[in-house]
Amino acid sequence: MTHDASLLGLRGLDRPSIEALLDRADHWLPRLEQGGPPPASRAVVGLMFLEDSTRTRCSFETAVHRLGHAPVVLSGRGSSASKGESLRDTAANLAAMGMQALVVRCGQSGGPRIVRDATGLPVVNAGDGRHEHPTQSLLDLSTLRDRLGSLEDRRILIVGDILNSRVARSNIHGLTAMGAHILLAGPASLVPWRLADLSPAVTVAHDLDAVIDTADAVMMLRIQRERSAGRAVADDYRHAFGLTRARADRLAPEVPILHPGPVNRGVELDDEVLDDPARSVVLEQVRRGVAVRMAVLEHALAAAGGDN
Ligand code: CP
Repeated sequence: MTHDASLLGLRGLDRPSIEALLDRADHWLPRLEQGGPPPASRAVVGLMFLEDSTRTRCSFETAVHRLGHAPVVLSGRGSSASKGESLRDTAANLAAMGMQALVVRCGQSGGPRIVRDATGLPVVNAGDGRHEHPTQSLLDLSTLRDRLGSLEDRRILIVGDILNSRVARSNIHGLTAMGAHILLAGPASLVPWRLADLSPAVTVAHDLDAVIDTADAVMMLRIQRERSAGRAVADDYRHAFGLTRARADRLAPEVPILHPGPVNRGVELDDEVLDDPARSVVLEQVRRGVAVRMAVLEHALAAAGGDN
C-alpha cells in the first residue's frame, strides 16, 4: 500500500504488504456468507466503472456491501462521461458528494492516479488501460497461495496477450515480490523478448509446447480484441497457444489453471478444460476476489478515517 492507502498498482509493493492483504482476505473468506460486522458508520464508496466489467464491478460492489458500507456505482454509459466530462471532473464531483473512497476502472492508463491527485481520496485501481489491475493480481496470488502454498521458486506460466495485459503486468510485479519465477508465453507479436527486461524473474518463450511441462501453475489470458483493433487475431491461436485438452493432459494433476475472465471459450481454453473442476480454479479466483477487495477497501477506508 502507498502511504495514503491508495492501491494504484502492485509495482513497489513489498512481500509483507502483499501477505498482509492476502492474510486479511483469508480472514474474510469464511465470513463471506454472513457479511462483515455492522459498522458504526457506513462509508459511501464510489465505484467509477467507466469501462465495461462484470467480475470486478460486481465483486467490488459485493465487497462494499459485505463490509456494511454503501456503494454508489457510476458507469461510463449513462453518465456524463459520455458527454465528454473528464475523469478528473467526474471524480471531483463524486468527492464533493462526500464519498470516502473511490474505485476506478477506466481505459486510460494512469487514470486512478489522476483521480487520487484530483480528490485526495484513497483510490483503488480496478484496472486502468494497459497499466495494472492490482486486485486481480491479489486474487490470483490468493488462489495460487491456496493451491501451492509458498510461491517461492514456483514457476508460473502466463500465456497470451502479455503486451496488452494489465493483469499480466500486475502479476509480474506481484509474483516477483512473492519470490516466484514467471514464464511468459505467446506469439512474438504479443510477447516480445523485451518483456524479460521487466524482472530477472521473468523468462519469455514463444513455443508453448516446449515449456508447458515445467509449470507449477498456468494462467491463461484473454485475447484482447478491443485493444488490438486492426490486428487480426490469428485463426490458429488456439492451435499454437490455446490450453487444449491435449495440452492440459500434459500438466501434472495438481497444476491449477487460472484465467481472469472473460474467457473466449475455444480460443484460450477448451470447454472441457475450463469446466473441469479438478483443474480449473477460475471460479475460485472470483470467489476469492470478494475477500481480497474487502481487505483492500478496509485498509483504504481505515486510512481515510472511515469506520469499518
Ligand atoms: N477479470 C476482470 O477484470 O473481469 P471484468 O472485466 O469482467 O471485470
